[in-house]
Amino acid sequence: MVLTDQQMQDIADFIYEMSGIVIDLQKKYFVESRLKQLLPQIGLKNAEELCDALKNFRDPKLETFLIDAFTTHETYWFRDPELFSALASIYFPSFKEFNAGRPFLIWSAACSTGQEPYSIVMLLLENHFISNLAGRVVATDISLNALNRASKGIYNQIEMSRGIPAEFLIKYFWQMNGGSWQISESVRRYVEFAQQNLLTDPIPYSCQYHLIFCRNVLIYFLKQDKEKVLKKIYHRLAPMGLLVLGASETTVGISKQFCPLRLGKAMVFCRAEDYSRWTKILGK
Ligand SMILES: C[S@@+](CC[C@H](N)C(=O)[O-])C[C@H]1O[C@@H](n2cnc3c(N)ncnc32)[C@H](O)[C@@H]1O
Repeated sequence: MVLTDQQMQDIADFIYEMSGIVIDLQKKYFVESRLKQLLPQIGLKNAEELCDALKNFRDPKLETFLIDAFTTHETYWFRDPELFSALASIYFPSFKEFNAGRPFLIWSAACSTGQEPYSIVMLLLENHFISNLAGRVVATDISLNALNRASKGIYNQIEMSRGIPAEFLIKYFWQMNGGSWQISESVRRYVEFAQQNLLTDPIPYSCQYHLIFCRNVLIYFLKQDKEKVLKKIYHRLAPMGLLVLGASETTVGISKQFCPLRLGKAMVFCRAEDYSRWTKILGK
């Protein structure tokens, strides 16, 4: 399959409109190879038919296929372990202090296939910060396929070899016939999955969240779209709440509503107005 420059532009424009993801026009070979696998699955013969379909009618099935094909779902258990250690040893105990027993509300935005929200719940359970269904993790993603996989909570051997401590495997998973592993109900019952496009859809529920994970997705967005997402997040981050971004992501130069904060060996972000209180708590 060979794309003309115009077809490449039309496809990149469509993906951007649907998801905010910017496809590098230089990476034509990447788009061509993805489309080669994808088109037969959606009954289209070539790029011309695809571009016609994109221009002339909105087909939710086609949109879902394209978003899935061009979004990166790379994720693993306890991604950035230093962050998880810092949350367990510093943030959760402080939270208990200034939230006087109120339950945790956590949002895992762009959660992919679920390793992130389930890792958060395992961390909370291990440290006795949730029990009896007090507290919950709301997990969202634009990709329906990723969410379907996440809510089933079934992972193959390769996925299970990426970051899960052996004792957690025994404690929080059961092995199915065929060798895959399923997350136990004791973890799953704390997570609620929903489809959400970070750029165009409202944030689920009207609550403020104590912790917001939005990791490894803003890197794919333009600066103006990062600003838009961070602004939405700001209004839904509870006082003294924390925003967690991916290891290579920052709010600096994009939003003045957040300040970076060193939490143990990890970098997180607080609301600018909470910064001086946080620095006192952290003993700076
Ligand atoms: C690389 S994964 C990150 C998964 C997880 N947060 C982590 O860091 O391990 C990026 C995820 O962002 C999702 N995504 C991309 N564009 C999105 C958008 N506009 N709204 C919501 N999710 C989006 C993709 O479907 C994908 O699952």
